[in-house]
Amino acid sequence: MALTPAELVKADQEHLIHPLHHPIDHSEPIVYVRGRGATVTDATGKDYLDGLAGLWNVNVGHGRAELAEAAAAQIKELAYFSAYTGSSNVPAITLASRLVDLASNVFAAVFFTSGGAESNESAFKTARFYWKAQGKPDKTKVIARANAYHGVTLQAMSATGMGAYWKMFEPRVPGFVHIPTCYPYRQVDQKPGESAGQTAARLLEEAILREGADTVAAFIAEPIHGGGGVLYPDEDYFRLVRKVCDTHQVLFIADEVITGFCRTGRWFAMSHWNVKPDIMSFAKGVTSGYLPLGGIMVSKAIKDTMDTVKPEDRWMHAYTYSGHPTCCAVALRNLDIMEKERLWENAAKMGDRLHAGLKRAFGNHPNVGDIRGGKGLLAAVEFVEDKATKANFGADKKLANRLMAEMAKRGVMTRVRAAAGAHPNVGDSLFFSPPLVVTEAEVDRLVSVARESAKAVLGQ
Ligand SMILES: Cc1ncc(COP(=O)(O)O)c(C=O)c1O
Repeated sequence: MALTPAELVKADQEHLIHPLHHPIDHSEPIVYVRGRGATVTDATGKDYLDGLAGLWNVNVGHGRAELAEAAAAQIKELAYFSAYTGSSNVPAITLASRLVDLASNVFAAVFFTSGGAESNESAFKTARFYWKAQGKPDKTKVIARANAYHGVTLQAMSATGMGAYWKMFEPRVPGFVHIPTCYPYRQVDQKPGESAGQTAARLLEEAILREGADTVAAFIAEPIHGGGGVLYPDEDYFRLVRKVCDTHQVLFIADEVITGFCRTGRWFAMSHWNVKPDIMSFAKGVTSGYLPLGGIMVSKAIKDTMDTVKPEDRWMHAYTYSGHPTCCAVALRNLDIMEKERLWENAAKMGDRLHAGLKRAFGNHPNVGDIRGGKGLLAAVEFVEDKATKANFGADKKLANRLMAEMAKRGVMTRVRAAAGAHPNVGDSLFFSPPLVVTEAEVDRLVSVARESAKAVLGQ
């Protein structure tokens, strides 16, 4: 007999360990059982508007039967076989070629993983491999940014720029260096006359020189930060970053795990600035979360290096589920949906509506310091205790979590980042990243529920 909702919760609390696990946040877990479009339903039958597309990944929306059919068809034909060198499969070959096309031939080839952290892990190892093959074995360090999120494997955790992810797992992998990010609202170390983009690019160059360019393999950045606060860069930033990386022979890794697959109104976010990374990490939206899949795309120079090293110096990076036929078949059908429904267009249009709605609702709010959005369906509202000084609310106020709870009460699920400390740390931020099929009425509801929830928590 099926468990009742209460029995499910009890069994969960006893036996299931969750990401970021702590019972304090799990006294009343919501058990989801169903999803359709931008709506998910829990075990008690309550509906929620999905304000974060699952975990920034369910881009085509919930309940797409054609993705289940694609998985079933591939499982019946060939669920799995090794894709180690010497063997291959049709969905993986087809998907790799299609991704190279979709990324406008900026990259030459694709390696598949099962998720974002493993993609970044693969990117870091590939950067080391590349420089060793060029006769520069000391180029091993990675420069990453404060507020970055790159995943939880040890290297990805070490690249992540949020101390809470390190604290109980230290020491970090050596050779990961953090610099301030491009955060126009609270730019650190800005000199008079500099744009935030110029400052942040200068800080990258200074870090490379400080470390010694002959020791730095790569710089990694999310085009728009996700979990760190949905921080939008200045328009000039990534072009300057590319120049700095070129000058000092440092590979540029773009972590498009959230921003890829139409999220920002383009197939990939780096195209907003016409900047070409050497390696791009992807995951999440490639299957819209229907099955786990991720990967890296690499430049022609890197692919040529892989193809021309001596066999004993090969890219000895193994992975059971690389090129998993079923996951790749689902990704292909997911891309069909995105193309057929031109989801980048809806992302751009609904993203503009969301950003405009947030500005209307929160522009004059005395506790809203920054409203970020404008590139597709990726937006945030950042709260401060004092707008003039940008002072953050204290941790004891639990503002972000209370906002999230008020929204859930009103039937909207999303995520937040609690203030990371005093200014210039990121303040309490509320995130918006709904499925790309979201409707005008749903976007308006996201905004009105956020506004009502702020009123409930802050009294205005
Ligand atoms: C930008 C970014 N990179 C990497 C990751 C890690 O992905 P995964 O959780 O699939 O390992 C995430 C996850 O949220 C992410 O947002």
